[in-house]
Amino acid sequence: MSTENQQFERIPTRIFHNSSDAAQVVAQEIAALIRSRNEAGKKTVLGLATGSTPLPVYKELVRLHREENLSFRDVITFNLDEYHGLTPEHPESYHQFMWQRLFSMVDIPSDQVHVPSGTIPRAEVYEYCDRYEAEIEKAGGLDYQILGIGRTGHIGFNEPGSTRDSKTRLVSLDSLTRRDAARDFLGEANVPRYAITMGVGTILKATQVVLMAWGEAKADVVQQAAEEPPNENLPAGLLQGHPDVRFFIDEPAASALTRIKNPWLVGAMDWTDASIRKAVLWLSNSVEKPILKLQDSDYNECGLGELLTEVGPAYDLNIRVFNQTQHTITGWPGGKPEADDSSRPERAKPFPKRVLVLSPEPADDILCMGGTIHRLNNQGSDVTLAYLTSGNLAVPDSMAQQILSLMSEMEKELDLKKSEEFSLGQIATVLLQELQTPEVEAGDSKSIRQVKSLVRRNEARDASHNLKVEQNKLHFLDLPFYENGRYRAFHPDEKDIAQLVDLLRNIKPHQIFFTGSLSDPGTVSGINFQLLRSALKLLANDDWISNLFLWSYRGVGQEWPLSEIDMAVPLSPDELNLKVEASFQYRSQRRQFPLRDSAHQEIWQQTDELNRNTAGSYDAVGMAEYEAIEAFKQFDLSEIIEL
Ligand code: GLP
Repeated sequence: MSTENQQFERIPTRIFHNSSDAAQVVAQEIAALIRSRNEAGKKTVLGLATGSTPLPVYKELVRLHREENLSFRDVITFNLDEYHGLTPEHPESYHQFMWQRLFSMVDIPSDQVHVPSGTIPRAEVYEYCDRYEAEIEKAGGLDYQILGIGRTGHIGFNEPGSTRDSKTRLVSLDSLTRRDAARDFLGEANVPRYAITMGVGTILKATQVVLMAWGEAKADVVQQAAEEPPNENLPAGLLQGHPDVRFFIDEPAASALTRIKNPWLVGAMDWTDASIRKAVLWLSNSVEKPILKLQDSDYNECGLGELLTEVGPAYDLNIRVFNQTQHTITGWPGGKPEADDSSRPERAKPFPKRVLVLSPEPADDILCMGGTIHRLNNQGSDVTLAYLTSGNLAVPDSMAQQILSLMSEMEKELDLKKSEEFSLGQIATVLLQELQTPEVEAGDSKSIRQVKSLVRRNEARDASHNLKVEQNKLHFLDLPFYENGRYRAFHPDEKDIAQLVDLLRNIKPHQIFFTGSLSDPGTVSGINFQLLRSALKLLANDDWISNLFLWSYRGVGQEWPLSEIDMAVPLSPDELNLKVEASFQYRSQRRQFPLRDSAHQEIWQQTDELNRNTAGSYDAVGMAEYEAIEAFKQFDLSEIIEL
C-alpha cells in the first residue's frame, strides 16, 4: 500500500538501508514461492537477470540451498538476455555468468535452464527468438521476473525506443551501454554490438516483476522510471501499470526520488538543521536568487510555506543558511594553525596533521581532490597517498604493448649486454607475443597484469610529483581481491582488511579522505569503501581513532550537492591548472570514465568543468566567486560503521 510520501511514485518502491538487506528479501520471496509451488506439485518458472545487481540475490539463494534445503529441482529458468556473437565459454557471456554464480552451485537440472544463445547465425535469429517465447509459454509463463536497470533505463537489453509489446529479439546496444560494459570486456572495442533480449512485452507477461537497483549511479534513471509518465525512451518506465511490479532499491539509488530529494513536497516535515539547509538552498536554486534575496513570497510560492511558519521569517532563515554555507568554505583543508576554528570545518590543532588519502585506483585522488592535496602538502600537512588497488584491469592492451615494444627494441638498438639468463628485452618479446595472440577466455596473464599495474603506478608517481608530493609518501597496496579477480567477480576477504588495518595503524592519521559510500557495493570503489568500514570497525577502540576526522570525496565525475558539503576548498586559477596538468599523467585512463553527457570529454576536461561548476553553484547562491572548488562531506565514525 502506498503512503503519502510515495504519492509521486507510479511503481511501489521499497527503499532499503543497503543492497544486502534488499537482496535478502528478494531471495526469501523466491524461496517461499518455490516452496509453496512445490507443495502444490507445481514447477516454478523464474526469469533471471545478469549484471552486478542480482549478485547478492544469487549468493543468498545458494546459501539457502546449502544451509536451508532449498531445492531447485522443480525450477525452470529463463534468462533475459545474452550478447550476440559470444560463445557460452566466453568469460563475459551471460551463460558463464549464470553457471558460475548460480546454476553450478544449486541442484537445478541443466535442461531446465534457458539462456538465449549468442551463437545462433544471424539468419536464424528471428525464428530462434520465436521459439524462446514459445518455450516460456510452454513452461507456463514466468512466475517471478527479477530485473536490474541500465543507465539508459534499459531492462534486459531493451534500450530506449523499445516498445511496450516488444518480444524476444535481436537488438543493437546503445553506446552508453557499451561504454558501461567496456571495463568487463577490457576495452570498448571488444564489447559486442548486438544482443538477444526478451522484449518489454515478454517481461510484462510475468506474474510478478521485481526491479532492483543499487548505488547513486542509478538514482536518476530510477527516479524517472518510478515517477515520470511512461514513455518508450525509458523502457523501465513501461513497467508502470503492471499489476504486480515493485522496485527494491538501496538508499543511494533512492536519492533522486521526490520523497528523498524534496521531502517538503510530499508531506509535513519535522524540520531539522539539515533539512532546512537543503530546502533553502533548493529554493535559491529554483527561483535563481541568492539566499539573502529570498522573500516570504518565494517560500510560499514554492511549497515552503510550512517552513516559513515554523522557523521563519525569510530573513532569519536566509541568514542562518547563508552563514552555514559560508562556513563550509576554507582555504585550509588541514585546519588553519593559530586561527579561531569555531566556525571552520577543520580543527586548528594538532598542526601539522597526518593526512591519509585513500584512492580506490590510481587517478581517483588527483581527479577528485588534486587541488586539496596540493594545498594540504603546501601548508605543511604530512600527506600520504594510498592506492588501494593496482587498477591494472583498466589499462588498455595498447598501452602495455607500447611499453613492451619499447623495452624489446631498446635491447636491440642499445645493444644491452645479454649476461642474464633472460634479458628484459627477451621477456618483453614473449609478453608482446602474448598480447598479440590474446586468449580472451582466460583474461590477461599475471605478467601482463603486472605490466599494466606498473603503467598505473608510474602515472600515479608522475601525477603526484606534479603536486609536489614526495615519492616515499605513496603507498601501493595492490589489494588481493582485485589482483585475483575481475569485474563483477571480486571476492574481498580478511586479507584485504588486514592490509588496510596495517596501513591505518602505521599512519594513525588525523584526517582520512575516502570515497565510495554511495557506490554500488559490487564496484571497485564500493568494495574499497566496505573494506574501509570493516577496518575502522576493528580499529574503533584504538586511541588515535578519537582524533580522526573522516572526509569523503564524492567520486570521479561527481560532486556533492551544495546542501551536503561540509568543506569547500577553493582553488586559484593556477592551482586548477596544476591539477589539470597532474591529471594529464593518467594517459591510460583516457575515455575510461563513462559519463553520459561527457562522452567526448577527456577526464581532465571533466574534472576542470566539474570544479568550475561547483564554484559557480556557490556564486549563484550569493557566496564569493571563485575559479574552482573541490568539496567534501564529513562523516562520523559511528555513521560510517553503521552505513
Ligand atoms: C546489462 C544487462 C541488464 C542489467 C544492466 C545493469 O546491460 N543486460 O540486464 O540490468 O546491465 O547492470 P548492473 O547490474 O551491472 O549495473
